[in-house]
Amino acid sequence: MNLLLRGGRVIDPAHELDAALDVRVDAGRVAEVGRGLAPGRGVREVDVRDKLVVPGLVDLHVHFREPGQEYKEDIATGSAAAAAGGFTTVCCMPNTVPPNDCRTVTDLIVRRSREVGLCRVRPVGAISVGLEGKALAEYGEMKEAGVVALSDDGRPVMNAGLMRRALEYARTFDLPVVQHAEDLALAEGGVMNEGEVATRLGLRGQPPQAESVMVARDLELCEWTGARYHVAHASTARTIELVRQARRRGLPVSCEVTPHHLHLTHDAVAGPPGYDTRAKVNPPLRAAADVEALREGLADGVIDCIATDHAPHSTVEKEVEFDHAAFGMIGLETALPLVLELVRARVIDLVRAVALLTSQPARVFRLDAGGAGSLAAGAPADLAVIDLDLAWTAEESGLRSRSRNTPFLGRALRGAALLTLLGGRVAFDRAGLVGEP
Ligand code: DOR
Repeated sequence: MNLLLRGGRVIDPAHELDAALDVRVDAGRVAEVGRGLAPGRGVREVDVRDKLVVPGLVDLHVHFREPGQEYKEDIATGSAAAAAGGFTTVCCMPNTVPPNDCRTVTDLIVRRSREVGLCRVRPVGAISVGLEGKALAEYGEMKEAGVVALSDDGRPVMNAGLMRRALEYARTFDLPVVQHAEDLALAEGGVMNEGEVATRLGLRGQPPQAESVMVARDLELCEWTGARYHVAHASTARTIELVRQARRRGLPVSCEVTPHHLHLTHDAVAGPPGYDTRAKVNPPLRAAADVEALREGLADGVIDCIATDHAPHSTVEKEVEFDHAAFGMIGLETALPLVLELVRARVIDLVRAVALLTSQPARVFRLDAGGAGSLAAGAPADLAVIDLDLAWTAEESGLRSRSRNTPFLGRALRGAALLTLLGGRVAFDRAGLVGEP
């Protein structure tokens, strides 16, 4: 479908663009971004005045559970949730069953995501065979098959010797190593943040240092090996400080934060309702001072991007005693309004918010080379039209994800994707903006 999006506020951080412009989509690609573009024959014109037009959002961290746990989510439902959230590229973590630690699993994910065709699902390969932290996986064959990064996410790489080898090996393939930073000896099986709230609830806590100790160790290894190192779901003030210092030393380090760590503290576990397993995530929701430090890191630029850590779980895993509940919450469909809330609270401006969800994550995993995260002429037309003011409430029945595990259900939200285009095709159209071709 050839489209002309007329008169939206186009924000394309990669090209330092923020202006009322038209966007012409031709044969699945961005043909032109400019003022007063001619409609041309057979072009469907869509009035998007008062709307935002941005590159399709990019999420470096999702769990789509296929293969093996499709009852929680699969590539089709996960892609639909992504498209509804305005995302056109997501990177899926390898903790599937079996894990994505070899070419066959990577091939399957790439093929399924193309068949579904609602979102570009870029796989992250395992650092270690079986995510067991013992032997390195085959990075070369996984890279050939399409992985864009390496991680044992869900688990840390505890063994420093293995982490050194992983960084060295990854460097030869120019792949970033993504750490789930959690020193298991310090975390000691904690189910929430260590502190006053955990004590009051009688729950075992994991201290913030379980994260920062591992980040500190890894930064030493990063400096030693020169490999690209990315901190997944950074959640503590100290982690942000360590990354800030490492940046100053010129290390190739990057980090992401999640919308939930930017909005919620460990008080969310206490409720109401009490012992809310929907607020059980790993790393855990932290104290107010940590949330403040993450927000400062967003504003001053030390944090590269916002990633959801979309982690679907069924009621069987979530509606149980707090100690036994699985870690994780879904996030693809609520990320955008939660980030826009930070704009209204003047934590960051709108252009930075868009950059944190588009050009910056694309740069961290070098997805920008294929056009992700920008509206470059000639690139695949992956873009989102956003209504900044649309007021809505996340409800179970409205979610595209197969799972419902989010504490943001019932929260009054503002802002949503109206239209998501993937390669110029409609992946999501909230209110029939484009309608039938
Ligand atoms: O909360 C989490 N859920 N954190 C992780 O690191 C893993 C994830 C999952 O796979 O459910």
